[in-house]
Amino acid sequence: VRVAVVGGGTSSEHDVSLASAAAAAGALRGGRFDVVPLTIARDGRWCADGWPMGLGAALELLGGCDVVLPMVHGRGGEDGTLAALCESAGVRYVGSGIGAGALAMDKWATKLVAASLGLGVAAGVLLTDPDAGGQALAPPVVVKPVSAGSSHGVTLVRRGADLGAAIRAAFELDDRVLVEELVVGREIDVAVLGRPGGVRVVAPALEIVCDGVFDARAKYGGQADFRVPAALDAAALQCLEDAAVRVYDTLGCRGVARVDFFLTADGPVLNEVNTTPGFTPASQVPRMFAAAGIGYRDLLEMLVDDALE
Ligand code: DAL
Ligand code: MG
Repeated sequence: VRVAVVGGGTSSEHDVSLASAAAAAGALRGGRFDVVPLTIARDGRWCADGWPMGLGAALELLGGCDVVLPMVHGRGGEDGTLAALCESAGVRYVGSGIGAGALAMDKWATKLVAASLGLGVAAGVLLTDPDAGGQALAPPVVVKPVSAGSSHGVTLVRRGADLGAAIRAAFELDDRVLVEELVVGREIDVAVLGRPGGVRVVAPALEIVCDGVFDARAKYGGQADFRVPAALDAAALQCLEDAAVRVYDTLGCRGVARVDFFLTADGPVLNEVNTTPGFTPASQVPRMFAAAGIGYRDLLEMLVDDALE
């Protein structure tokens, strides 16, 4: 099986995507897989073995593979862009299609979908004008770009005096910014794997325990502690799992998606959905499946084989 593993990308999550792709390519190599690693440089150029090529050549390379494993987090990858390229190249691919990727990348759209299902979401205001900060909620709030990942551009604002700077920082990464009421609760991630025949596999939930906010520094600086399975009573777990599967299905996700919640005294509050979640062996999704006895390579093989069905 010839599998193209695509990493990098033009978003602020370029390095994280390289790490996910390198780990996945390394694990798949050998046996029945012929791995073709492809990288999208920060400027958007496709590269194979460090050599840049035109988009036409990249599409041809993708089309010559049996399946593509996209590992590009954020805009220009996870948002449906890579799915669209695979569709155009006529090649099968792992994970969500164009619509689900685009919807989940848009935290405002995701919120509307979740709210329409009756799920808890943080009260929030969408800003489309950097100078319209006056419409924002009063702190404490979380300010975030609508479509960024890995917490880039996200600020927890406790004082009104800091709101303007946080909004400007978020607008550096996006032209729409979300200001949300701070949600106080345990941070719980739920991974949903859609398998052929409509089967939904939910991995053991993971709790992120960290001092303060699980921000980019905590995410990649080793300051967070993952607890898998999260210590949850049966009712809370059921509620989280049901919510995760409903959001996954409503958005139309495929493959594996990680649905992130805050578990508050009033029940789960949906934070966001990642259709191309971090995928090093130390990332949440592989850790969650490992807790169910599904190893890193086994999980990748399952994803690739399902995409080929
Ligand atoms: N956006 C990062 C990679 C994640 O959600 O894991
Ligand atoms: Mg994310």
